[in-house]
Parts: sequence; structure tokens; C-alpha cells
Amino acid sequence: MVIAIDGPSGSGKSTVARRVAEKLGLRYLDTGAMYRAVTWWLLEQGVDLADRDRVAERTAQVPLVMGMDPKNPNVRVGEVDVTKVIRESRISTAVSAVATNLGVRAELVARQQEIARAGGVVIEGRDITTVVAPDAPVRVLLTASEQARLARRALELHGSDDAAAVEATRDQVVRRDADDSTVARFTEAADGVDVVDSSDLTLDETVDAVLAVVERRTGART
Ligand code: DC
Repeated sequence: MVIAIDGPSGSGKSTVARRVAEKLGLRYLDTGAMYRAVTWWLLEQGVDLADRDRVAERTAQVPLVMGMDPKNPNVRVGEVDVTKVIRESRISTAVSAVATNLGVRAELVARQQEIARAGGVVIEGRDITTVVAPDAPVRVLLTASEQARLARRALELHGSDDAAAVEATRDQVVRRDADDSTVARFTEAADGVDVVDSSDLTLDETVDAVLAVVERRTGART
């Protein structure tokens, strides 16, 4: 079983994908964390992120290990546990430069496809339904209005969704999605992809909506 979930930042896809994996006894792969970990590693080594060839060449060597237990997903680069540090805003700000590098994408997509081939996994990102696992039996695009996404991220980053916090979050959410959408189409569903709009749903309701798609597409009882 492979479940592919795409969506923009703030759509809630990481939390939802984790919960779905936990519920169905599957592994969980956060592909955004892979782009973040590569970014961390390149910065650590002083690689100029604008040097596209060097960035792609170094990425082919990255000793990335993804811990895919949905209860405790973690990311290691060599011996270093980078699970926390890759969420820092210096990484969030830099990651688009790496994620828009086509050499990096080719390398990470190949690693993701190897994991998908082994099966038993919920994979979440921006190009999973279209590029990484277009043949997955369940493919979901998780969307939410810009308003809802900004409010969620503001709450996450600043502990508030008042006007000032939303404004402070806008660049991270809107600019990043605009940059990212130059290399992956994740704002409209490709053929055969089910859309779940979480704007007016709670987390539990969103998880249930995705589980309903799994039942409908596979006949499995969730
Ligand atoms: O979902 P996130 O914020 O952790 O993603 C980090 C970055 O990686 C973001 O710029 C989008 C990009 N990304 C991507 O291009 N393709 C994916 N499959 C996953 C993430």
C-alpha cells in the first residue's frame, strides 16, 4: 500500500499524513524534511546554494537517513540528528533554492521512489501524486484556503493568529509556495487525484476524509 499526499504549506498535510500512517500501520515519509535536511547539510559545509551544479553534485553524496515511524519520525544526516534544526527559519528561508534545483530533485525523487517500491508507506510532499508515485492506489491533494493556511502557520510559528502574526507568516507561506510551484504543480489535482479541502475541517475531520478516500479507492476498511 502506498498513499501519496500533496499540498501547499499550512494545508496540514504533515500532521494528517502522520495520523493516517499511524492509523493504518504504515510508515510515514516526509519528503519536505528531505529537502530541508539537504539544505542544512549544504549550509553546514559552506556550499553556495546559488551554485546549482555544485549543489546537485554534493546532494548525490548526502548520507541521509529517514526514520519513518509515524509516532517518532526523525531525520539523520550521517551521525547527526537534524529533526529539530531543519525546522529553524534559516532553513525555511533557504530551502526553496535547493528544492528548485532540478539535479537535487532528481536525486531525492529517486530515493523516494526506492522507499515507495518497498511499499507500506504514506508519502507526503509536493510532487508525490504526480512524479514520485503517480501509480499509487491512493492519491490525495490536501488543499486549504490561503486564509486558513496563513492562520495555521501563524499559530504554529508565533502562537497566535492575530493580524500581526499572520502578516509575519505571509512571506514564508505565500512566497515559498510561489517559488515551489515553479517546479511542482501542487495547487490543482492531476487526473485521478482526490481533493480534500481542509479549510473548514478540524484535524480529526480531515484525517477521516482522507481515510474515506482510502476506503473508496482500495475497498479496505479503515
Ligand atoms: O513541506 P515543507 O515546508 O517541509 O517543505 C520544504 C521545502 O521543500 C519547500 O520549499 C517545498 C519543498 N518540497 C518540494 O519541493 N517537493 C517535495 N516533495 C516536498 C517539499
